[in-house]
Amino acid sequence: MKRILSVILAAVMLLGLVSCGETSYPDYKTELTKEGFTYSADELEDYAAMDCKIADYDLPALYKYFDGMVSLGVAFTSNQISYFGNKDIDLLQEANDLDFNITKGILKHYNMYVLGNELKSDHCNPAEGVYNFDDGDKLVEIGKAAGAELRGHTIVWHSQVPQWWFKADPNDPSSLQECHQNGTLASREQLTERLETYITELMTHFKDDIKIWDVCNEVLNGTGIRQVSDDSYWAEIIGDADGNGYADDYVEIAFNKAREVGGEDLVLMINDFNLEWQDTKVTAMYDMVERMLRKGVRIDGVGFQSHIGLDCDVEHYRRNIEKIASLSEVYDECFPEYKGNFRVQITELDMNMYVGGLSGQYGFHAWTDEDYQKQADKYFELVDMFLDFADQGKIDAIVFWGTDDQNSWLNTMDGKLRSNAALLADKNLELKPAFWAVARAALKHRK
Ligand code: GLA
Repeated sequence: MKRILSVILAAVMLLGLVSCGETSYPDYKTELTKEGFTYSADELEDYAAMDCKIADYDLPALYKYFDGMVSLGVAFTSNQISYFGNKDIDLLQEANDLDFNITKGILKHYNMYVLGNELKSDHCNPAEGVYNFDDGDKLVEIGKAAGAELRGHTIVWHSQVPQWWFKADPNDPSSLQECHQNGTLASREQLTERLETYITELMTHFKDDIKIWDVCNEVLNGTGIRQVSDDSYWAEIIGDADGNGYADDYVEIAFNKAREVGGEDLVLMINDFNLEWQDTKVTAMYDMVERMLRKGVRIDGVGFQSHIGLDCDVEHYRRNIEKIASLSEVYDECFPEYKGNFRVQITELDMNMYVGGLSGQYGFHAWTDEDYQKQADKYFELVDMFLDFADQGKIDAIVFWGTDDQNSWLNTMDGKLRSNAALLADKNLELKPAFWAVARAALKHRK
């Protein structure tokens, strides 16, 4: 009898745990970092002079330097957090495998998380009626455990987007180019309906958990809305639905639907690359966002991806942020009840170490201490500039596009492998001078 009772009791307890749905995790931010750091300049220099690895327990946490200034973010893929969920903190502290240390590094140093690939629409809506939010759910779980903010990346893009959305017959095996030639692309109504259905499913699923979204990514070419010649079928199909002379109505449709389903509290952003130097694109972005704000489409900010190079002109970049940040005046005028809510975020920061552009170099390269120092100096200058804007309430997040040099998209170009060294830790997870340069820039802005 006693045995039966205890089995029933155990079952009831288990049911209780399952039904309340919340798993409890250790306090990672405390458990992964030794107590007592002062985050002072002297302490920083002591550590910068040592060899440190990203997940060392006796190492200050990078996000702490940025406390009260910006959220410090990082992008990762779901395999980099595959160790997450192991609640045995001793095991977590002792484990020395590279992937495990990346997971720990993410938990320790950053307080804003982004999934690099698995919240893109081709992953989440691979076929009509099929939704795959499992990896997004993992992001939510690790975010909760680490008390991190989450960015949802990304809903509308021309790349990594389900091809079936754009076809009259979703099962048509032809390529989009063939459909275009044969007149068998989806109609404006079909594509709008598929986009709105997807946004409804996505926003409903993540409603309480992901508060910031890149609703649209890379919708501009150098001067205006992307066309078929820029690999995008959005403008070709949905086009200028309201007859105002601009074929960017799909952008409005996406923002309006996301707002309607996700609610007024969400931060809905538009994200793009090359904004740091390409003035024609900055003008196109400014003009489009201004026009949409005046039309009542609430866009809460612009993401500067910031895949920059060692040769980045920081003062040029500053001017371009200034211009886009000045959209806040239009925003405040159009949405006085949300005054002050418009922001710029640095969404995909990394630094290509091949001076003079992205492509053209293949193979493996050994970076010298001097190269690393140049990179650190550039990172300092950049982050210092970003924090000038943060001081004025214009930038509220800086997100790195990866944890370490081994895990970076810049190691592959045009499908070929090469080495690059774009991030704050090297491929063995040793901290680079850039890590400390970024921390130094933050200390400079400490009040
Ligand atoms: C773009 C996208 C990102 C990512 C990077 C390369 O910047 O916005 O999602 O794909 O390219 O990794």
